[in-house]
Amino acid sequence: MRIYKAKDYNEMSRKAANVISAQVIIKPDCVLGLATGSSPIGTYQQLVEWYKKGDLDFSQVRTANLDEYKGLTRDNDQSYYYFMYENLFKHVNIDMANTNIPDGTNPDSAAESARYDKVVADLGGVDLQLLGIGRNGHIGFNEPDDAFAKGTHCVDLQPSTIEANKRFFASADDVPKQAYTMGIGTIMSAKKILLVVSGADKAQALYDSLRGPITPHVPGSILQLHKDVVVVADEAALSLFTDL
Ligand code: F6R
Repeated sequence: MRIYKAKDYNEMSRKAANVISAQVIIKPDCVLGLATGSSPIGTYQQLVEWYKKGDLDFSQVRTANLDEYKGLTRDNDQSYYYFMYENLFKHVNIDMANTNIPDGTNPDSAAESARYDKVVADLGGVDLQLLGIGRNGHIGFNEPDDAFAKGTHCVDLQPSTIEANKRFFASADDVPKQAYTMGIGTIMSAKKILLVVSGADKAQALYDSLRGPITPHVPGSILQLHKDVVVVADEAALSLFTDL
């Protein structure tokens, strides 16, 4: 595992975008596993900037997003489909037919989970998985639990996650209570993982994930078992690491 310390969010975003950019240049038809939330927004902005300068070509890139709220349609401005379209896809030359996100409108959790696992398998797996981390250590929407989930599944979001995500909604009551997420098994089968973390409120989750015991109660701790993880975090997020 390689840990890069950035001085702030902007530097973190630039470094993370460099890793993704290298992947796209080395393998133009690569499969990018993508994340939503505040952490990767700056990374996407940087990628868009480099695309506009002519330095990046997404025409053959394929993508698979980590998760989607259950019950939200694509055109709902809180859906992760909408987020990806607004923050990345509409700004670059990606073929929308090559983008994949769990279908939040499918009420049948078992069917949607099986469908999405097949989508990822048919892509040949993920080359580079971008991740953020929750304050409770979740990755994707794999919440702290007694076991690690393997494949795509529907999760009940924890009160702390609903609380953290309510900033994007009119109120906590409007935050969907369930989501579809790739499982830990799928995330761990990505060839390379890029974790971006910013801010003091993530410091404990990051420390527990990278230095604590490997336990499903801190889902991010499983990353210690992956052989190719790059962590790009800012000083505030790394404040508990006294050796860095
Ligand atoms: C988003 C996702 C989540 C977020 C995490 C951190 O697709 O899977 O695990 O990465 O909740 O969210 P932010 O970046 O908003 O702090």
